[in-house]
Amino acid sequence: MAYSNFQHFITLLLILFFISPTFSQQSFRPKALVLPVTKDSAKTLQYTAQIKQRTPLVPLNLVVDLGGQFLWVDCENQYTSSTYRPARCRSAQCSLAKANGCGDCFSSPKPGCNNNTCGLLPDNTITHTATSGELAEDVLSIQSTNGFNPGQTVSVSRFLFTCAPTFLLKGLASGATGMAGLGRTKIALPSQLASAFSFARKFAICVSSSNGVVIFGDGPYGFLPNIVLDSNSLTYTPLLINPVSTASAFSQGESSAEYFIGVKTIKIDSKVVSLNTSLLSINSNGVGGTKISTVDPYTVLEASIYKAVTDAFVKASIARNIKRVASFAPFEFCFSSDSVGVTRLGAAVPTIELFLQNENVVWRIFGANSMVNINDDVLCLGFVKGGENLQTSIVIGGYQLEDNLLQIDLAANRLGFSSLLFGRQTGCFNFNFTSNA
Ligand SMILES: *[C@@H]1O[C@H](CO)[C@@H](O)[C@H](O)[C@H]1NC(C)=O
Ligand SMILES: *[C@@H]1O[C@H](CO)[C@@H](O)[C@H](O)[C@H]1NC(C)=O
Ligand SMILES: *[C@@H]1O[C@H](CO)[C@@H](O)[C@H](O)[C@H]1NC(C)=O
Repeated sequence: MAYSNFQHFITLLLILFFISPTFSQQSFRPKALVLPVTKDSAKTLQYTAQIKQRTPLVPLNLVVDLGGQFLWVDCENQYTSSTYRPARCRSAQCSLAKANGCGDCFSSPKPGCNNNTCGLLPDNTITHTATSGELAEDVLSIQSTNGFNPGQTVSVSRFLFTCAPTFLLKGLASGATGMAGLGRTKIALPSQLASAFSFARKFAICVSSSNGVVIFGDGPYGFLPNIVLDSNSLTYTPLLINPVSTASAFSQGESSAEYFIGVKTIKIDSKVVSLNTSLLSINSNGVGGTKISTVDPYTVLEASIYKAVTDAFVKASIARNIKRVASFAPFEFCFSSDSVGVTRLGAAVPTIELFLQNENVVWRIFGANSMVNINDDVLCLGFVKGGENLQTSIVIGGYQLEDNLLQIDLAANRLGFSSLLFGRQTGCFNFNFTSNA
């Protein structure tokens, strides 16, 4: 009897000390991760997300940069962490990050200032300012998801990021202390998180005028009320690589971390807009083409494309008896709301269609994404004019991406897009943030 109880006790100990840790929170392997995104709609029109970093964990507000190269944060002001580790020169971390240089810092050692470290060029893509910063690792914590609700929080113990000085924050939304790059590099959030948790190198981004979401990992993705978006809900187009970096500062031979797609033709209300099509492809100097961006609030078109598109849009609007009114900066083409009908897809204005790899693959921009409400009486075409020597001819900006789910598959190098979710009775603000952890 006593012996049997003792054996029982041993078994219990084994369960407690050997078996149970294996199934504890630490070994929980998420299939996807979720990051709530909020638009600073009152001021900067930037999309921000909160991520926790360091030991003890500190919540950081970061500006979401779809084409950003990596996570960079201000290390100069109040960076305290017992788990901060600078990346030493010629380490595996430096080579993963393609940080070839080797530097010293002539001050007392602190986060962002250590000897024998490699560095990168953190880039404020809002103000187009870059500087040098130490590559480092620290703990990063983020919520898991099953694609429908947030679940338990998980952490990556050695997440690579770059330190920046405080001045680089200038121009970011108030309270932001860095930028979260979702670009195509190996150390941008999508690839690092996928490799930390061994899930597919895919992520979805769905922004709105209020709350949206980034989901790292594969779908299906669920939105209220019971709308499930899977591969059948998306249209796919190849992602193109721009061989020349589009960052504010870069070293020779670096390709762009941004996501480019191949727009071949633009139609407005089914009529082809005549434009210089050579501007639509990326040339050997990295100039031209079309990219998607969350740091440009509105779509920016190269000057001649802007003229052709807006001329065609105005013409098609007149054909629909829509009345033009005075412009409203930064927009040039504004219309009287009274003369425009309202549909489920927004204002009943001419549809702008971007034709991609063939006649059957079309990104349609409906009223909800093309027209900006200025006040009760006026709405304007939410496109802005870029310079004549614009590096990228078409930059599809945040407003045009809102309430469209985009899935980027880094392994297959393709973009899946849902088209305006209002057509499916939902929107990007409809992710169910009630945790089921
Ligand atoms: C780096 O090394 C130099 C020269 O030995 C020294 O003066 C400096 O204080 C060191 N800096 C750090 C951050 O350790
Ligand atoms: C079309 O654009 C290309 C690239 O900028 C330029 O070299 C060419 O002169 C343009 N063609 C016309 C007809 O404007
Ligand atoms: C949101 O998710 C929670 C947790 O799964 C669920 O209980 C709740 O009913 C969902 N909300 C709606 C409106 O469906």
